[in-house]
Amino acid sequence: NLPACVKIVEVGPRDGLQNEKEIVPTTVKVQLIKMLVSSGLNVVEATSFVSPKWVPQLADAKDVMDAIRNIQGARFPVLTPNLKGFEAAVSAGAKEVAIFASASESFSKSNINCSIEDSLARFRDVTSAAKELSVPVRGYISCVVGCPVEGMVPPSKVAYVVKQLFDMGCSEISLGDTIGVGTPGTVIPMLENVMNVVPLDKLAVHFHDTYGQALANILTSLQMGISTVDSSVSGLGGCPYAKGASGNVATEDVVYMLNGLGIQTNVDLESSFLQATREVTMCRVQPTGCHQ
Ligand code: HMG
Ligand code: MG
Repeated sequence: NLPACVKIVEVGPRDGLQNEKEIVPTTVKVQLIKMLVSSGLNVVEATSFVSPKWVPQLADAKDVMDAIRNIQGARFPVLTPNLKGFEAAVSAGAKEVAIFASASESFSKSNINCSIEDSLARFRDVTSAAKELSVPVRGYISCVVGCPVEGMVPPSKVAYVVKQLFDMGCSEISLGDTIGVGTPGTVIPMLENVMNVVPLDKLAVHFHDTYGQALANILTSLQMGISTVDSSVSGLGGCPYAKGASGNVATEDVVYMLNGLGIQTNVDLESSFLQATREVTMCRVQPTGCHQ
């Protein structure tokens, strides 16, 4: 019982590059975004309007937005942790934003420097400002099955945060296994709890590949009716505030699996997509190669 088509949300330029040791030049980021769009990816998370002290890798958020303003055929949501970030994002031309909560107190503190409840209050400010401007807000929840400090995270806690984000007006909620510890054994009860409190078509899944479980978890989620999947070109990513977290699931692996299952996506695995993958790999192996 699988969906006929799946929406892929490409998070590489944000979730991937926020975690690179080398700061990738703005022009390379923009080139990467263009290649991702030309391969058919029509939702590409472009950057974050967060503190440059916390995430210096994305300090050029405004410049990235300026450079991609005229690219047609894709949406470019950006992360905004608070009203300051939201206002900066909108001024830079963002038409969609994402807020990011956690299901674990420890991770909330280390990622956005406040408790879960305080973060929800900040996010209510963002969602109400966004509503006035008709800007759609995606909600993320980190650590939906496990936390680097607290260990297992109870599904009821995830469901609680999901419900809060839904009630404040999030148009889509992405469930993040930030450190990639989930297996279908823990993902199924988490999803069952979450599906009790919000409609299925509002949910997305966001898996990391630390233990090679991401595709199994995605397939399980699809079988449970989820049809929006986050992924990152070339498996870029990890999390700067979750030690040991390996990359996000690779977009090309997800598309390969979906193609094999006869599930439609917008992505053309044969064309410039692979070039994008190679470009990213080249940047990682040899940073100066990116300028060529
Ligand atoms: P704070 O230090 O508590 O903030 O950080 P503050 O309000 O006390 O302000 C401190 C300074 O930051 C001030 O500047 C503010 O103006 C500035 P100063 O007076 O010192 O010069 N500031 C900002 N600057 C730019 N943009 C802003 C902003 N807000 C305040 N929006 C804060 C709190 C939330 C800002 C910080 O903790 C932060 O930026 N965190 C972001 C961390 C991050 O981006 N993490 C990665 C994304 S989440 C993720 O990857 C998980 C996900 O992929 C899902 C998954 O994988 O599972 C989504
Ligand atoms: Mg992630």
